[in-house]
Amino acid sequence: MTDSTAESETFAPPEEFVAAANVKADEYERADADYLSFWAEQSRDLVDWNEDFGEVLDWTNPPFAKWFIGGRINVAYNCLDRHVIAGNGERIAINFEGEPGDSRSFTYAELLAEVSKAANTLADLGIKAGDRVAIYLPMIPEAMISMLACARLGAAHSVVFGGFSADALRSRIIDAEARVVITADGSYRRAKATSLKPAVDDALSHGDTPVETVLVVRRTGQDVEMVESRDQWWHETVETASPVHECEFFDSENPLFILYTSGTTGKPKGILHTSGGYLTQVLYSMKAVFDIKPESDVFWCTADVGWVTGHSYVTYGPLAAGATQIVYEGTPDTPHQGRWWEIIEKYKATILYAAPTAIRTCMKWGEEIPAKYDLSSLRLLGSVGEPINPEAWRWYHRVIGGERCPIVDTWWQTETGSHMIAPLPGVMSTKPGSSQRPIPGISVDVVDDEGNSPAGPEGGLLVIRQPWPSMLRGIWKDPERFKETYWSRFENTYFAGDGARRDEDGDIWFLGRVDDVMNVSGHRLSTAEIESSLVAHPYVAEAAVVGAADDTSGQAVVAFVIVGNDVEDSPEISEELRQHVGKDIGPIAKPKKVHVVSELPKTRSGKIMRRLLKDVAEHRKVGDSSTLADSSVMDLIEESVAKN
Ligand code: WTA
Repeated sequence: MTDSTAESETFAPPEEFVAAANVKADEYERADADYLSFWAEQSRDLVDWNEDFGEVLDWTNPPFAKWFIGGRINVAYNCLDRHVIAGNGERIAINFEGEPGDSRSFTYAELLAEVSKAANTLADLGIKAGDRVAIYLPMIPEAMISMLACARLGAAHSVVFGGFSADALRSRIIDAEARVVITADGSYRRAKATSLKPAVDDALSHGDTPVETVLVVRRTGQDVEMVESRDQWWHETVETASPVHECEFFDSENPLFILYTSGTTGKPKGILHTSGGYLTQVLYSMKAVFDIKPESDVFWCTADVGWVTGHSYVTYGPLAAGATQIVYEGTPDTPHQGRWWEIIEKYKATILYAAPTAIRTCMKWGEEIPAKYDLSSLRLLGSVGEPINPEAWRWYHRVIGGERCPIVDTWWQTETGSHMIAPLPGVMSTKPGSSQRPIPGISVDVVDDEGNSPAGPEGGLLVIRQPWPSMLRGIWKDPERFKETYWSRFENTYFAGDGARRDEDGDIWFLGRVDDVMNVSGHRLSTAEIESSLVAHPYVAEAAVVGAADDTSGQAVVAFVIVGNDVEDSPEISEELRQHVGKDIGPIAKPKKVHVVSELPKTRSGKIMRRLLKDVAEHRKVGDSSTLADSSVMDLIEESVAKN
């Protein structure tokens, strides 16, 4: 997604921004000179260690890294206690805005008390360091309170996005062996109370999970069934618990969380992150990329805590930095399309971090909507989750940023834990559509298929050359898959799965995934996972799924299915299959289109050529089909698609 003018078009940051910036241009050289000393220095500067670390990195058994060896740390202490001890207990940590218009705020001292109560409750339920807790909550403060309570106890959380189905929740609970689930009765979305608790009941109904207790937050007040001896209300347990909790300190490599993400096969991967390295790099990115000034900034990351962006830039980053942030429960167009801008005006947000898909949607609604609000408090904008097209970038810069706010286009992944490639806003001029340079201390490259560097001007594959502090430590319970997925393509080098190219200035442009992972509205979905859901439906004999370019969501899920002989092709079938996937995986996975076809394009060895289906879905002339077992298949497919 590039256009010809963008490469030479740059926007210099305002002078005052540069003068006050947290980091200066020499940062790159200092980091390049010795990246391990650089990270050690950042860590000692930004993190409160209870016991200092010795060795910075243990890379004796690659790809299994250990960072900040021997250091002892409590991540929740870093997000809460230390700010209170430093005299900032009265600063607002969270300004929560509910979709119906209710609001709550928590100072750091209040948030510490809430987290302590939740930690005491979890400890009473038998949760201790090394255990896992599943969190299935909407965007309400209790989501962050629960995550921090786990961190305080040294237990790992596994947050499951509230939009995922009961089945998705169940398989994640089983894989992580979670003993407690924290959920809510429901939440407010698009002016309706949606329910969450029934999905938990459903997930646990097979009796095959290790869950002993379900803690239920009351958000909407809707009727919920409580299973005796298993379910407990948050307001009857947490809210009555002691607000004082002395925390222990854990090894730097103590697991902090598992977060499941789509890979190229049907089974989601449990990405494991640990404590000291993760917190170091998240905090460094808050300082260098977001230029955070905790005493004056009001930070707003619009992501849900169900995704990694919500972990690093809602729960951990802003709080560890001691900043004030906004948390919003609902959708940008409820009750009106100016809701986000109204929130920015109300809380005087200074930094906004959002996904390109949301920017494109707001563009469609029209610039007269944000124009009604006072957005002059903003000083920096961020983008994440997918490539931002130059047109959306320029709109964001002009309409939302009033031409004064630098935009940081941040490339990273669930696996990388925090920002990897992004401009430093006080150091360089930004370029619409490019993430530009790796942050200091990070070494990336763009290589060709054989691993040669540099790749040609048309681009190649993005790789990461050196270990980094917030890197994933593995795939939960699957070390082989960890090696195979990320470290087998090129020796001792991390393969990200993204296509990229460098322009003449050396700036990096992302070209999308090179594997069977789709990116829909900044959310990762796997073609294989949706295909296996489709073939599990009794109508479907075979299925192939592709991500087709889409103006708003970046990509859209398009499915091609062969139905059984006894099933009549009709519009109802497509609709039924869409609903089936929505129910099976979650509404975000619902295909935009389901085409019933008589054949799928396969090679002689039986491999489905999704590339050709993508051409059809994107209404292009079908590419080279000479390796198909039967080349007439594509004509048949195009005919059926034209019909429906
Ligand atoms: C894509 C989200 C281009 C990329 C933080 C990556 C991006 C995947 C950008 C990770 C960006 C994320 N420009 N592409 N600024 N940010 N991506 O794990 O394909 O949900 O591999 O992490 O999103 O998605 P994930």
